Amino acid sequence: MPYYRRVGEIPRKRHTQFRSPDGGLYAEELMGVEGFSSDSALLYHRHLPTAIVDAEVVADHRGTLTPNHPLLPRHFRTQDLKAEQQHEADAVTGRRTLFGNNDLTIAFAVATAPSPLYRNAVGDELLYVQTGSATIETIYGALDVADGHYVVLPTSTTYRVLPHGEARLYVIEATGHIGPPKRYLSSKGQFLEHAPYCERDQRGPAEPLLAEGTDVPVLVRHRAGLTRFTYANHPFDVVGWDGCLYPWVFDIRDFEPITGRVHQPPPVHQTFEGPNFVVCSFCPRKVDYHPESIPVPYNHANVDSDELMFYVGGNYEARKGSGIGIGSLSLHPSGFTHGPQPGAAEASIGVDYFDETAVMVDTFRPLELGEAAVSCEDQGYAWTWSGRGPGS
Ligand SMILES: [Fe+2]
Repeated sequence: MPYYRRVGEIPRKRHTQFRSPDGGLYAEELMGVEGFSSDSALLYHRHLPTAIVDAEVVADHRGTLTPNHPLLPRHFRTQDLKAEQQHEADAVTGRRTLFGNNDLTIAFAVATAPSPLYRNAVGDELLYVQTGSATIETIYGALDVADGHYVVLPTSTTYRVLPHGEARLYVIEATGHIGPPKRYLSSKGQFLEHAPYCERDQRGPAEPLLAEGTDVPVLVRHRAGLTRFTYANHPFDVVGWDGCLYPWVFDIRDFEPITGRVHQPPPVHQTFEGPNFVVCSFCPRKVDYHPESIPVPYNHANVDSDELMFYVGGNYEARKGSGIGIGSLSLHPSGFTHGPQPGAAEASIGVDYFDETAVMVDTFRPLELGEAAVSCEDQGYAWTWSGRGPGS
């Protein structure tokens, strides 16, 4: 996130004396990625960000992963996941695992209660708000989010999610950093003219939170599991910060689709990249305008990736007749050639607009199934192209 931002009060020169009205020094903190060799932010705290008074191990309810074996294309219905099935009712401890591999974990949460303060030290998180709205309070300030918003939370950002009513969240937890595709950025980090979105579409925190409190618990996810620190003072005590590393929001409706005379491949929809995965946004758009074009995709074998499509709006043309609806997830793994449902190619000829919204994650290593996915699988999906399967 190389777009420079400045919020609240900061001293004119970095690493110089900066004092509160009572004369005490503010505590300066550098949040930096890749050691001191990449993007960073300098934050100024009223209290020491290092002062912990307790640390305890917390049980992890992520569960185990099940291999996709026998290898199958699969359909999962997140619309069947309910708040009461979760271990907790919030967007952090209530997450249920859908999929995972060594590079990422994908989870779902139906949030109805405030989350604890939380920090993921393993990697960046990308939240997609499917429905509802929430305020995400962070050490940098607050972000108001609603359906269709992506939120990028850099590694080790302390935050909590306060839903307004019920919010359904699709959560990608990376083991590294998530950002815009490098091919859309200049060598200095500015969005280029051919990018489907740019800095004007990114929204960051606007003012400090300045919370007060003592003995404040913060849940930390790290490589070994979960630890709960107790901080002597509230971590949201930042009076100001500046830099190029901070959480930001992007509305999927601000993604400008790239279209063509004939079918454009999925990379035109790419919105983010992370370690060994990409995230794409399929948005309502005019489609192929060659007089003989076939607007839905051709059959394709993604030999190096598993393709996970989350259907969040409209009516996905290529999947009509498959049982897929809003909230559905389709998993088309490497080793299985996938394509439109029977009749979809013919039916799409002459259509000039697709009213569909979907969030796709392509992973470069196979995804395994988490407990939540197993619980909401539609067992018939694999046989929808032939119309018959085992036992039929
Ligand atoms: Fe595909």
